[in-house]
Amino acid sequence: MEVLRTEELTKEYGFGENKVIALDHVSFSVEKGEFVTILGPSGSGKSTLLHLVGGVDRPTHGQVFIGGQSIYKMKNRDLTVFRRREIGQIYQFYNLIPVLDVKENISLPVLLDHKKVDQEELQKLLEILGLEKRADHLPNELSGGQQQRVAIGRALISQPQLILADEPTGNLDQKNSLEIINLFKELNEVYKQTILLITHDEKIAGNSSRTIRIEDGKIIEDIRR
Ligand SMILES: Nc1ncnc2c1ncn2[C@@H]1O[C@H](COP(=O)(O)OP(=O)(O)OP(=O)(O)O)[C@@H](O)[C@H]1O
Ligand SMILES: [Mg+2]
Repeated sequence: MEVLRTEELTKEYGFGENKVIALDHVSFSVEKGEFVTILGPSGSGKSTLLHLVGGVDRPTHGQVFIGGQSIYKMKNRDLTVFRRREIGQIYQFYNLIPVLDVKENISLPVLLDHKKVDQEELQKLLEILGLEKRADHLPNELSGGQQQRVAIGRALISQPQLILADEPTGNLDQKNSLEIINLFKELNEVYKQTILLITHDEKIAGNSSRTIRIEDGKIIEDIRR
């Protein structure tokens, strides 16, 4: 089953002499259960691609389909709700809310959706994340790796179709990086979570089931393992 498809996805910034083509007619698709890493030099268009797939930014040209739905054909308000339910986003800096504890930070997308959090599901998620004993702590009482696990929990709580991660280990030491990557592997292998993850690290890419290389806004290689 296809979870994601982009068609001729293009993003230009600026005008005239200042025009930058950050993404240049990129087309690819991702099946349910794939763990895709995106590799490429700085400035090659990786974050731009993730932003467009995540519905954060609008393309200059082209389309993004998630679960068969063309996301940029939706009204803004519908897209906001769709993103909250179907796309989990994880960044290098965890973007947690400092005054909310671990449980509350993870629950946030569901609460914003005016829904009740299933406490059993939340407990299960805390265990998968290894955060059971930290559930009532504030972000500043956690290590970097733990904070990133909270951000991953927040991305997972709505059981989204797709997880997007932009260098999620970029701010972590080797030990914590390894733990986070192992967590992504487990989410993919055990829970069949579809993941699209940007990294600079070839070793991390080696842990995924498919690697897409980007240069100058274009896909130059797409390898499945
Ligand atoms: N808001 C913006 N305005 C103008 N140019 C931009 C903007 N955002 C990105 N760019 C340009 O688009 C190109 C792609 O940027 P992008 O952030 O996608 O690269 P990246 O592959 O994520 O790089 P890095 O590995 O350094 O994070 C770059 O040339 C960048 O300067
Ligand atoms: Mg980037």
